[in-house]
Amino acid sequence: MRAGIRANRDVLRRMTEFLTAEAGIRQFLDIGTGLPTVDNTHEVAQRIAPESRVLYVDNDPLVMAHARALLTSSSEGFTDYIEADLRQPEAILAAARDRDRLNLSEPVALMLIAVLHFIPPGKGQAQAIVRQLVNELPAGSYVAATHFTVDFMPPEEKIRYQQLLDAGISDIWPRDEAAFSAPFGGLDLVDPGITLVNQWRRGAGADDIDPSRISVRGAVWRKP
Ligand SMILES: C[S@@+](CC[C@H](N)C(=O)[O-])C[C@H]1O[C@@H](n2cnc3c(N)ncnc32)[C@H](O)[C@@H]1O
Repeated sequence: MRAGIRANRDVLRRMTEFLTAEAGIRQFLDIGTGLPTVDNTHEVAQRIAPESRVLYVDNDPLVMAHARALLTSSSEGFTDYIEADLRQPEAILAAARDRDRLNLSEPVALMLIAVLHFIPPGKGQAQAIVRQLVNELPAGSYVAATHFTVDFMPPEEKIRYQQLLDAGISDIWPRDEAAFSAPFGGLDLVDPGITLVNQWRRGAGADDIDPSRISVRGAVWRKP
């Protein structure tokens, strides 16, 4: 999975660069932040536009413990971190509005990078969460998302992965392309569409890696 994790992190940087430099976004709601590492969303955005505002959200207290690294904003910009659960979008939106952390009347990029696959399939839960968040964002906002898939794995690996899910050993739920994109109906897909993350606006000379070693799709949508 190492190649997939690295490619996912790289696409987070490329998507943030696109959103800041090309789409002109200056506010980011990054849900499922993860432990701080290099090129966190605010570092990438503020390199291009120092006034960028980033609100990080994660439900893991460990991330909170390391959040200081996420709070090193440029003096012109803003970063904050809240502990909250993606499954409670109204609490996240309330925290975003609180103390004007984000101005939800101006375009926002909602970052759902490697987090929606923690929401189990069925019952339309992922769709309801995304809809609730996107409904509160103004036209001209964007959503960047990546998601685990088993579609490129050989059949025996798929079976092994399903056994891990059935045994409760993994809580990362794969989706195919249709299920990944379903919550984003009504939004405009940004070029190049839904791709494996190592293929999304990749630079010239990027490695061609076996798709099964990546196993993460990504895309960016714009709210019309
Ligand atoms: C695989 S990491 C992704 C980190 C980062 N976005 C990246 O792509 O490098 C997933 C993160 O999502 C968080 N997460 C999982 N389920 C969540 C939920 N229901 N609400 C908020 N965060 C969640 C985990 O705690 C973890 O930090």
